[in-house]
Amino acid sequence: MSDGSRKSHWETVYTTKGETEVSWYQEDPAPSLELIDLARPATESAIIDIGGGASRLVDSLLARGFKRVTVLDISQAALDAARARLGDRATGVEWVVADATKWQPAHTFDIWHDRAAFHFLIDPADRAAYVARLRQAVRPGGHVIIGTFAIDGPEKCSGLPVNRYDAAGLAKELGEGFELVDSGRQDHATPWNSTQRFQFCIFRRT
Ligand SMILES: C[S@@+](CC[C@H](N)C(=O)[O-])C[C@H]1O[C@@H](n2cnc3c(N)ncnc32)[C@H](O)[C@@H]1O
Repeated sequence: MSDGSRKSHWETVYTTKGETEVSWYQEDPAPSLELIDLARPATESAIIDIGGGASRLVDSLLARGFKRVTVLDISQAALDAARARLGDRATGVEWVVADATKWQPAHTFDIWHDRAAFHFLIDPADRAAYVARLRQAVRPGGHVIIGTFAIDGPEKCSGLPVNRYDAAGLAKELGEGFELVDSGRQDHATPWNSTQRFQFCIFRRT
């Protein structure tokens, strides 16, 4: 998928569908929050949600008192939707419109979170570029949380082909210097009550 068509796909999704009309909608991002808790972050910890879209994770992080939250997404419309929902609270968040495979992190982060963005990178060169940025951005001792479709999960998301992973497969993608802290599978119920099997992993950068 070319850079332009990737961006236009996601801008179309977020300008034509409401928050609850997308398969990945989650009212309560509990699986992500449970893994973030395992990292024992302080309220000053820098947390980035990669491909955060219009997810409500940012709302939960602000409600928990986190002061340095960044949401990065390729779609301006997605971040506009999240901002509009948050109202005044949105000013405390750093919003970055960028492709995760091309972005240059301006500072380091304690926690890198990605739910259902990495799995779209079916081209090995894109995955290598993503991991290179992750390695620049996550400080030693920091944590990486990635949720993808599981090995027996759907083959497509938002009409696009995805790669599916188990914990070993995700560890292989990150390469050396990351230890698996915990992993688990989660059944996500879409707004139309179908089930999508996810694999979540948390790694610590050694
Ligand atoms: C399936 S949605 C998941 C959104 C959000 N993480 C959630 O859990 O609700 C995938 C998101 O990744 C974003 N995305 C896809 N490819 C991306 C890329 N290369 N760089 C940054 N964001 C990307 C999309 O715009 C979309 O918001």
